[in-house]
Amino acid sequence: MKKVLVATGGGDCPGLNAVIRGIVKRAAHEKDWEVWGSFEALNGLMDEPTRLIKLDEQTVAGIHVRGGTILGTTNKGNPMNYPEKQADGTIKTVNRIPWLVDRLKSHGFDAVINIGGDGSQAISQAMFEAGMPVVGVPKTIDNDLNSTDFTFGFQTAVQIATDSFDRLVTTAASHQRVMIMEVMGRNAGWIALYTAIAGGAEICLIPEIPYDLNILIDRIKGRYNQGRGFVNIVIAEGAFAKEGSITSTQGELGRHAVRLGGVCFTLSQQLKDAGVEADIRETVLGHTQRGGTPIAFDRVIASVFGVKAMELILDGKFGELVVLKNNDYTSVPIAEAISAYNFVDPKGTLVQAAKGLGISFGD
Ligand code: F6P
Repeated sequence: MKKVLVATGGGDCPGLNAVIRGIVKRAAHEKDWEVWGSFEALNGLMDEPTRLIKLDEQTVAGIHVRGGTILGTTNKGNPMNYPEKQADGTIKTVNRIPWLVDRLKSHGFDAVINIGGDGSQAISQAMFEAGMPVVGVPKTIDNDLNSTDFTFGFQTAVQIATDSFDRLVTTAASHQRVMIMEVMGRNAGWIALYTAIAGGAEICLIPEIPYDLNILIDRIKGRYNQGRGFVNIVIAEGAFAKEGSITSTQGELGRHAVRLGGVCFTLSQQLKDAGVEADIRETVLGHTQRGGTPIAFDRVIASVFGVKAMELILDGKFGELVVLKNNDYTSVPIAEAISAYNFVDPKGTLVQAAKGLGISFGD
């Protein structure tokens, strides 16, 4: 009997359970494959005693509709920079990849399916280079991965953000207020852009397009002067990142600011300081965007990714990441996939269409 180990790493994301179910259901067609899960990314395998679970069709029955991941997940314990206690009590980070690959093999695993974002896929690539047959499945609600048209979880996040936006419009219109809604998107503005178009925002601020405060003020004042006395703004949490940058909200301080929902309050203060007299209110959606059941579109992508990942294992195609490209489910080398982000193109069709709809990016 051959064994494949499945792990989910990084932040949770609607659709993770649908991927796990897809893998298990496809493997069930094969007589010689067993699927195992590792709890909390690969920590379940690294821990002593191990925390592993055999996954069969009963274990995964009906889980595709559930948010989160039945395997649990974590950002901690990265085997590439593993915090190890030294004899003198100090902590040193070490590369445990060769050790991890030996451990996988000594526990009888023939292959790994690693479901996760760019950090997890860097681990996949390192394990692959160290001789482990690995297949990756991309995961991020931010949709900022270059090699796939869409990641699962993104459309669910947009739906949640749009539902919230619609509710905020009611208050904006009734109270003649400026409502600022902050959505996730650390490096890229996809969630903000889609939500602004779906919801009919007046202003959308994203990391890829630096904004001029004066242009925003003109737009806001223009709306009030026309007698349409309310404004709805969507802002991506990474909006204060430099154009095309993936660094300015990175690092512990930046991540802390993102968690505090800093940008929507900073923008609010900027508008007040610049003389906007209307009442301004701020809403940070935060992790509601990653919670709960995935919408149908994401269940489909995730389920097919799961099946496809298992098929790559059966075909012996390792070091590959499953992707959706040009409406086709295929795969690309993991090394290629993690080398570039997918940013919103400020000159692209989507931004131009949004501008056609009257959405200002402040540029
Ligand atoms: O990358 C996905 C994401 O949801 C980002 O949009 C967000 O900045 C980050 O994860 C939040 O991470 P955490 O759950 O660790 O605070």
